[in-house]
Amino acid sequence: MTRLYTDDAELYDILFDWDVEEEVDWLFERLGQPASVFEPGCGSGRMLESFARRGVEPAGIDLSPQMVELAHRRLGDRGHVTLDDMTDFDLGRTFEAAISPINTLLHLTPEQLARHLDCMVHHLEPRGCYLVQVGLIDPASHDPFAGSHWEESRGDTKLRADWTDEEVDFARGVSRQRSRIEVLEGPRAGEVIEEIHDMTLWMPETWAAAIAASPFEETETYDAGKKGSRPRVDASATGGLLWHLLVPR
Ligand SMILES: C[S@@+](CC[C@H](N)C(=O)[O-])C[C@H]1O[C@@H](n2cnc3c(N)ncnc32)[C@H](O)[C@@H]1O
Repeated sequence: MTRLYTDDAELYDILFDWDVEEEVDWLFERLGQPASVFEPGCGSGRMLESFARRGVEPAGIDLSPQMVELAHRRLGDRGHVTLDDMTDFDLGRTFEAAISPINTLLHLTPEQLARHLDCMVHHLEPRGCYLVQVGLIDPASHDPFAGSHWEESRGDTKLRADWTDEEVDFARGVSRQRSRIEVLEGPRAGEVIEEIHDMTLWMPETWAAAIAASPFEETETYDAGKKGSRPRVDASATGGLLWHLLVPR
């Protein structure tokens, strides 16, 4: 697992700590104002913390002990976060809704995604929904130079992130991404952490086939690429920030 999720989880927590309130308002409404929300791969719990502020019972799992520790720090006794693998877990209970933001599911191979969805259906109430953010790529219109570049700070630490596509292999269904995190200010100033991440690459047709083979159906799709609006789009749409509403069949 990447250093950014383990030894440098504190840096991840700073880098991805942008304001999620408006997005969580939208998720809360789309999910039907649930009383409980479960997030597999919850990381340091930034989304769960925001749900907790709305009176929702938050729960999560993560494979990184450092992330679980950070989530405990954020949530205190308001929720339940455990060290578990999202491809093989049994919490012995169900939730009203679940979320998976920022392409977390791209960490799973297609086989692992199938196992994950099998586990998820046993953790949702019969009318519960699972909103997952998974980007879908169209080989014809894919922009190989697209990337994300941003800065975040907390206390006296300031970071710069450059996240780019290193290689996109449509035949193998893998997108190799490079992250470069530079510590601009603070006790670790001057450090640069570079990593390569192999992520599963989904196209509209491969994603549709994966969901069709799962215990879920996709009932709605939204495009969060257009900030603030998130229009409903066709299930065959492409984009890096699509939200898919999955409901048990
Ligand atoms: C991109 S981060 C997203 C974290 C969080 N969802 C958020 O929005 O900030 C992906 C997270 O998934 C976790 N993860 C990766 N593979 C996992 C697995 N098989 N089971 C559980 N967690 C996993 C990582 O440790 C990391 O915290």
